[in-house]
Amino acid sequence: MVRVTWSAPGKVIICGEHFVVYGGLAVAAAIDKRAYSTVSLRDDRIVRIGSKQIGTAEWLDGKLVKESSKGVGDRLEAYRKMVEALLEKYGRRKGVSVTVDSQIPRASGLGSSAAIAVATAGALLDALEADFTTEDVVNASLVAESELHYRPSGIDPTVSALGGVIRFRRGSKPQRIEPQKAFELLVIESGRPRRTGEMVRKVAQFRELHINLFDKLMEVSDMVAGEVELAIQNNRIERLGSLMTVSHNLLRAIGVSSRELDEIIDRALRAGAYGAKLTGGGGGGAVIAVASEEVTRQLISRHSDRYTFHRVVLPQEGARREKAEGKEGQPG
Ligand code: MEV
Repeated sequence: MVRVTWSAPGKVIICGEHFVVYGGLAVAAAIDKRAYSTVSLRDDRIVRIGSKQIGTAEWLDGKLVKESSKGVGDRLEAYRKMVEALLEKYGRRKGVSVTVDSQIPRASGLGSSAAIAVATAGALLDALEADFTTEDVVNASLVAESELHYRPSGIDPTVSALGGVIRFRRGSKPQRIEPQKAFELLVIESGRPRRTGEMVRKVAQFRELHINLFDKLMEVSDMVAGEVELAIQNNRIERLGSLMTVSHNLLRAIGVSSRELDEIIDRALRAGAYGAKLTGGGGGGAVIAVASEEVTRQLISRHSDRYTFHRVVLPQEGARREKAEGKEGQPG
């Protein structure tokens, strides 16, 4: 039996989220938390998707026939569409089983849905022995992302598939940014879930009301992104921090921060962090900060009863095959 496992990382956006939806420049990086997806080819026509975190559902010819509890089928529907689109495209008339296990906190702005889509698309294309590129994996993942979010720019699956630190502009080829040496970001989960789609809609309304202002803010955001790129390349961590705080204030101006996120950022800055910002959709979710070792330790020891902290060293690897059984030339 053909059985293939892939993993793909979550992500943080270092600057430019939301503006990236409208063609702005963003910088994002893969993190060290990953989603794993195992795909087994079946001899019947069932598509079965199981997630350790959500539950299991089965479809026959696109119709939901089984779910481990009510609503699981709906929650996994976006991935079903992606899987069936790939089966159709590669002319496979039979079913598959997909098992997903993710270490990436959900609804936290850390790219868990994109990582699941990327790992699943990679494993399925690999199991089907398709001739595919990273771009094909990203494009397949966008089928799921478009179901899950409103107007996704494609940044989340791109960073998850490629890994590293990436300069991204919609419609252009993503570029890898090579840091002179590895550096650390502190990820602080607020514990408050966020819905990216809702925040993207909120920004669309803001933009409709203030189109010229939005364009100016986007120009500034692009400038910040250009400087962030240089700061990362040249290992100017203090400078990177202060640019991240500027990026946060731009995101605040377009209405995607929250009292809680501002409070975390304020605490980090008062403790002496070089800079901090919300990351991803906003409204809740996570904050990222850069700080000296001493300030990082201090923040964690003072606030870990309230927030979850992760120390993430960048860059991290992108999507990769973990295991393959039963393919030509392999044991199965
Ligand atoms: C979400 O991680 C980033 C947003 O800019 C949406 C997107 O680009 O798809 C908020």
